[in-house]
Amino acid sequence: MILDGKSLSAKVLEGVKLRVEKLERKPHLVVILVGEDPASKIYVRNKQIAAEKVGIKSTVLELPNSVTEEELLNKVEYYNNDPDVTGILVQLPLPKHIDKNKVTMAISPKKDVDGFTPENVGKLAIGLEPYFYPATPQGIIMLLDEYKIPIEGADAVVIGRSNIVGKPVAQMLLKRNATVTVCHSYTKDIESKIKTADIVISAVGKKIVRCKMDKKNSVVVDVGIFRDSNNRLTGDVDFDLVSSSAGYISPVPGGVGPMTIASLMYNASKVY
Ligand code: GUN
Repeated sequence: MILDGKSLSAKVLEGVKLRVEKLERKPHLVVILVGEDPASKIYVRNKQIAAEKVGIKSTVLELPNSVTEEELLNKVEYYNNDPDVTGILVQLPLPKHIDKNKVTMAISPKKDVDGFTPENVGKLAIGLEPYFYPATPQGIIMLLDEYKIPIEGADAVVIGRSNIVGKPVAQMLLKRNATVTVCHSYTKDIESKIKTADIVISAVGKKIVRCKMDKKNSVVVDVGIFRDSNNRLTGDVDFDLVSSSAGYISPVPGGVGPMTIASLMYNASKVY
């Protein structure tokens, strides 16, 4: 069975739109884009289009690659103090001369729609409710819930330990009482861990999930997206091999990608 992120994202966005219509204080998302990274430009454009669709006001601030860390920090501070702005997102990656942690940490936790600030990350880690959950992990959990996949007691294997996906999704699964194994480049015999899992979430950017799954009800979520040697968009999972042995699989494209955007819009509709 396919975990259809495209259709669920449409449903989530519809819900966000209705929610925004009823809000007295209207959300306003500011996206800061530094430099000319082509992928980042596409992501930011997609966020802008989605915001418009659900009736969320959005402003994109484009800054040149030459912007200093101090100038960027000043912009963040400016929007922190602007009562009309309810969400701030600084698109990553940032140029090398800027410390991304310093910039992330400058964002007000109540406007941190990415859920990347220490306050929001820390709240998730100690089992409190953060103001915002990171978009991709939250989108993945929405997808699992939509298909009524049991998380409690499941053996979940997360591949990748990034701050954007691996670590927060592991925390969210733990919060829902899964037994979580986080694998990374130093993990021994990753295949034996993958094949025996109930839930696999792969966020690496390499074709790493290429074995038959042991359990026929297992669930494989593919977060990776990159171009193969034929310049085709592909994910971390060998789709043909895994789909013939797993119970559920998310496709690339049309799986986690659209859920990330929908989940971000859900966050952007929250006003504190
Ligand atoms: N770059 C890649 N993914 C993300 C994300 O989720 N948020 C931000 N701000 N930048 C990113």
